[in-house]
Amino acid sequence: MDIKPLTGGLGAEILGADVRDAAQIPAIKQAFTDHSVIVIRKQDITPDDHLAFARQFGEINVNRFFKPVDTHPEIAMVLKDENQKSAIGERWHTDHSYDVEPAMCSILHAIEVPQTGGDTVFASMGMAFEHLSPAVQAFVLDLKAWHSSRHAFGAEAVSSEPNKTGRVGNTHAATQDALHPVVIRHPLSGRRGIYVNPDFTTRIDGLSEEESDAILQMLYRQCERPEFHCRIRWQPGDVTMWDNRATWHRAINDYHGHRRLMHRVTVEGVALSAA
Ligand code: SIN
Repeated sequence: MDIKPLTGGLGAEILGADVRDAAQIPAIKQAFTDHSVIVIRKQDITPDDHLAFARQFGEINVNRFFKPVDTHPEIAMVLKDENQKSAIGERWHTDHSYDVEPAMCSILHAIEVPQTGGDTVFASMGMAFEHLSPAVQAFVLDLKAWHSSRHAFGAEAVSSEPNKTGRVGNTHAATQDALHPVVIRHPLSGRRGIYVNPDFTTRIDGLSEEESDAILQMLYRQCERPEFHCRIRWQPGDVTMWDNRATWHRAINDYHGHRRLMHRVTVEGVALSAA
């Protein structure tokens, strides 16, 4: 297989691989650890193959809020139809940060993609932290922040975005709140990285609302710098997996009138430690 970095700091493209081949899994795992986001091109796989590949990394975490594939309840559908305006995952976020043990990785398989558009953009939380000035690094290292599923998946959020038909609308299950360090030490690489995100982080613990907002906005502007990003342009069959403890991501919603269908499997993670 050929592993080609996508940018100076985040992401790699893998050509000539087969996720069904057990002999290739160690090299894929290494590429995942090294690059945090990997796109494995041209995978002709079934939903069972997708799940078997995900299980090489850990237990499956079944998403409570997305509509599942009829035949495979462990696979979530990420769907935008021709007649929908909004898309799932349009804002920068980290999957499942509202869980006490947030998901390790998400694995997206492209089933139907528009001719153009519908890319996914990723941001490196390690690079974002490393490029803060030392004084700001020292300040944020001691902080913790609250994350919640309520405002994103609760009744208010779902009723205000009725076009997101890919979701179950399982609003009563949106009850998770979790406290995590603002800067974590990555469980696999040991690298330090920012762990707050605009979709699910609600507040820095122990600060006033004004103080919390100011610090979070400063960190978000840092993470939004394009030199910390990579962008995946999808082809049908591509499998992209990303480390939720090392990255943010957002779906680019620039393909109105066209259909895009992804299958997503999420893998369990561990409790996160301060850096
Ligand atoms: C997601 O946020 O998990 C979906 C990303 C995408 O559809 O590109």
